[in-house]
Amino acid sequence: MKEFPVSKVYRLLEPGPVVLVTTRARNGTPDIMTMGFHMVIRHDSPPLLGCIIGPWDHSYTALRDTGECVIAIPGADLAEIMVDIGNCSGRDTDKFARFGFTQSPAKTVSAPLTENCLANIECRVADTTMVDRLSLWILEPQAAWINPDRPEQRTLHHRGDGTFTIDGPVISLRERMVLWKQFQD
Ligand SMILES: Cc1cc2nc3c(=O)[nH]c(=O)nc-3n(C[C@H](O)[C@H](O)[C@H](O)COP(=O)(O)O)c2cc1C
Repeated sequence: MKEFPVSKVYRLLEPGPVVLVTTRARNGTPDIMTMGFHMVIRHDSPPLLGCIIGPWDHSYTALRDTGECVIAIPGADLAEIMVDIGNCSGRDTDKFARFGFTQSPAKTVSAPLTENCLANIECRVADTTMVDRLSLWILEPQAAWINPDRPEQRTLHHRGDGTFTIDGPVISLRERMVLWKQFQD
């Protein structure tokens, strides 16, 4: 995997892919969950992300205890596995073993990277003030990695009902982005 600047992490998430979130509990056990509810909050200085992880998820406890996670973006080839990861719990399942995912150590957090995915974003919790009320965590990316040599680069997008779209053609409207030239380099 190749390091990717945290100041450009918004480009990985602004298209709205379904993601996976890894955590590592205090006892060292890793977990992974599926997440569709996330958003970019700030581009840079520092970059900030928002995501919904609720107390119904086993991952919630590790995120609360450690303040760390990794957001991993699966390729379209991982569609079935991504759904299955989101339909079982680390409470009673070793999901890394069950789904044959390859973990590797992150640079800045204890949660593992997943080499199977096309990007990994190491995050620290930056703000918990909306967690009790809304299960909304504010995360600050610390480091990011991409897998540019992975054959399948298309991402998945949940339509909210168990159906998904896969990335289609990319069109460029850069010449019309007259107010936002700084985001095109
Ligand atoms: C497509 C999909 C999207 C999901 N999005 C979210 C989400 O945004 N937030 C959330 O808390 N759970 C979400 N879930 C549910 C969790 O992935 C599920 O509760 C998961 O099994 C939690 O794993 P854990 O108990 O090991 O933490 C989603 C599940 C699927 C299949």
